[in-house]
Amino acid sequence: MNSASATPATAVIVVAAGSGQRLGYGMPKAKVPLGGDTILTHALRGVAAAGVAQQICVAIPPGDQELQALCESFVAEIQAAHRLNATSGQAVQLPVVTVVEGGASRAESVRAALAALLPGTEAVLVHDAARALTPEAVFHRVAQSLAAGAKAVIPVIPVVDTVKTVERTTGDGAAIAPELVTGTAARESLRAVQTPQGFELATLRRAHEAAGGFDGGQAAAVTDDAMLVELLGVPVHAVRGASQSLKITTPLDLIIAEGLLEGPLGTRWVEG
Ligand code: CTP
Ligand code: MG
Repeated sequence: MNSASATPATAVIVVAAGSGQRLGYGMPKAKVPLGGDTILTHALRGVAAAGVAQQICVAIPPGDQELQALCESFVAEIQAAHRLNATSGQAVQLPVVTVVEGGASRAESVRAALAALLPGTEAVLVHDAARALTPEAVFHRVAQSLAAGAKAVIPVIPVVDTVKTVERTTGDGAAIAPELVTGTAARESLRAVQTPQGFELATLRRAHEAAGGFDGGQAAAVTDDAMLVELLGVPVHAVRGASQSLKITTPLDLIIAEGLLEGPLGTRWVEG
């Protein structure tokens, strides 16, 4: 622990190495334009504005020079802001920015970033670049929970739709409809999970090491880091997320994100 406070030395991993298939722009999603910048620039600015990170470690697609350059521009931007703050007497910490090549899956990208964290790092937040408009307050809630002793904490929002389980219809039923409902989940106990997800670093490293032995099917089923920690039997805590933290996945999500930036309440600083 940092001797000045209970705040652990914290890194934020930003995973931005995906290809953005569902968005369909024909380029990695991190590069897709959003509000006059790119999705990754917005995501990085959000992380910097939250001020919780001593290190920001970004995973980008291997060999992507444009995204490498974009990260370098971001470093220049935060350095300039830091100089400005220093002259006005505001002591704001300047995070170290590290860029790594991501892997073929999100989990592999996280593992590449975990391998590049600075010695002495005690806690890590793993954040999707695709959640580019996540409010600062969400980072703070996650960081506070870690400082209070959580080994794992995720931001969540209530599920508004009724959620059912289904199976593919076979036999005669196939002529009626492609799927058959097998049950209805109890909505009051369901939560939609967002990022940044926060972890004690040692716990997340252990969880990813355990996942090293997964077969292809098991590996494909891993959609977040908290799942891996749950498999260790470590309690995962939940704090309130925000609707602005939507994961930009489809063209409709991009329209919503543009609207959030342009509308009267259009900044990340407005809580949902
Ligand atoms: N991600 C990553 N490395 C991968 C796959 C995904 O770093 N090999 C990151 C994405 O860049 C994104 C986050 O994980 O910020 C969530 O993934 P998703 O929304 O699925 O993004 P993509 O994989 O890029 O999109 P798609 O699945 O539509 O191709
Ligand atoms: Mg994906």
